[in-house]
Amino acid sequence: MDSTSPQTIPQNWYSDDAIFKLERKHIFHKHWWMVAHAEQLAENGDYVATTLAEWPIVIIRDQQGELRGFHNVCRHRAGPLLRDGVGNCRQFTCRYHAWRYDSSGNLLKTPGLKADEEIDYSKFSLFPIQVSSWNQMVFVCLDDATPDLTTWLGDIVDIAEQYPNNTSMSFLGAVEKPGSVNWKAYGDNSCEGYHVGMVHKNLGASMQRETVEIDAYEIGEFIGFDVKYEATGGDQTRDGKGFWIYKFPGLLLHFAEYSFNAESVIPLSANSIELRRWFWVDREEAERRGINPEEMQAGSECVMDEDMEICQLVQRNLNTGVYQSGHLSPREEVGTIYFQKLVRKALQPHLSRSLSGGHKWAR
Ligand code: FES
Ligand SMILES: [Fe+2]
Repeated sequence: MDSTSPQTIPQNWYSDDAIFKLERKHIFHKHWWMVAHAEQLAENGDYVATTLAEWPIVIIRDQQGELRGFHNVCRHRAGPLLRDGVGNCRQFTCRYHAWRYDSSGNLLKTPGLKADEEIDYSKFSLFPIQVSSWNQMVFVCLDDATPDLTTWLGDIVDIAEQYPNNTSMSFLGAVEKPGSVNWKAYGDNSCEGYHVGMVHKNLGASMQRETVEIDAYEIGEFIGFDVKYEATGGDQTRDGKGFWIYKFPGLLLHFAEYSFNAESVIPLSANSIELRRWFWVDREEAERRGINPEEMQAGSECVMDEDMEICQLVQRNLNTGVYQSGHLSPREEVGTIYFQKLVRKALQPHLSRSLSGGHKWAR
């Protein structure tokens, strides 16, 4: 590699808690995150309580049928309203002292308080967050100033229209996979196809790898992989053409002619993530092509596991400190270069000298 090959972000960015704190504020807080699929929130009272980068949140379909999102934090002394999980409730009762809120976030009752110590309920509603859905996918955003979901998705909306819509497919299932890896190590990997031949033998054999086109898209800040499968080798559940997306900071979308899946890369801490992936299939079309949907999902999960395994090994090596920084190939790693550019853009204005890794910035 010569001096024109961009330098990677420094090793300490993959493990430093101070970097993670900056990312919470300047990246995670400002973007949309997929946290559920629409069927989980179909009925009034259906909720999904989860944790996003150390923020406990809840999404609920309120009694008026509106989707609402809140911090899972009581206005009394910050107690938890719900355990993480899914369910249905008409009201929230805090697990600490039983203050009660309706499903639209309004405070209803403060048990045990006497009339002379009552408070103005209208000032103690739950803290709201943005919620929005697109094609059966439910997203949250913690920052009120972030543009609406379809603006954030940018050119992805047009690309999606070129593939069968998952709203007319069957929901196949969901998986959650935790990993001991920084979210950026997983992002770096997901943004390039350079590793496919080594890490994904089956997937590699089922693709026309030389025809894959990888581009960075500015409107929506994502990397797109235009792919063609050949069902003659490798994973026999892949057929036709497809389009893979890594949308910054942590959303993967995989469009195909008979299926769709979406994956959310949820940062948990500086060195841990959880992958959540939701699968849809057009059963009729899959059957017509001789594809078994369950085998197709198993094949996708296998690719996720292969990625997670290599990323965890990379993370372990980064943690040793023996490696400080490397170089990226402008031809093979164009997506990773773009991903890291976006990370730098978000963090660079807020870095102290000690956190910058002591490197000059590669452009
Ligand atoms: S913290 Fe919720 S009722 Fe006290
Ligand atoms: Fe991979």
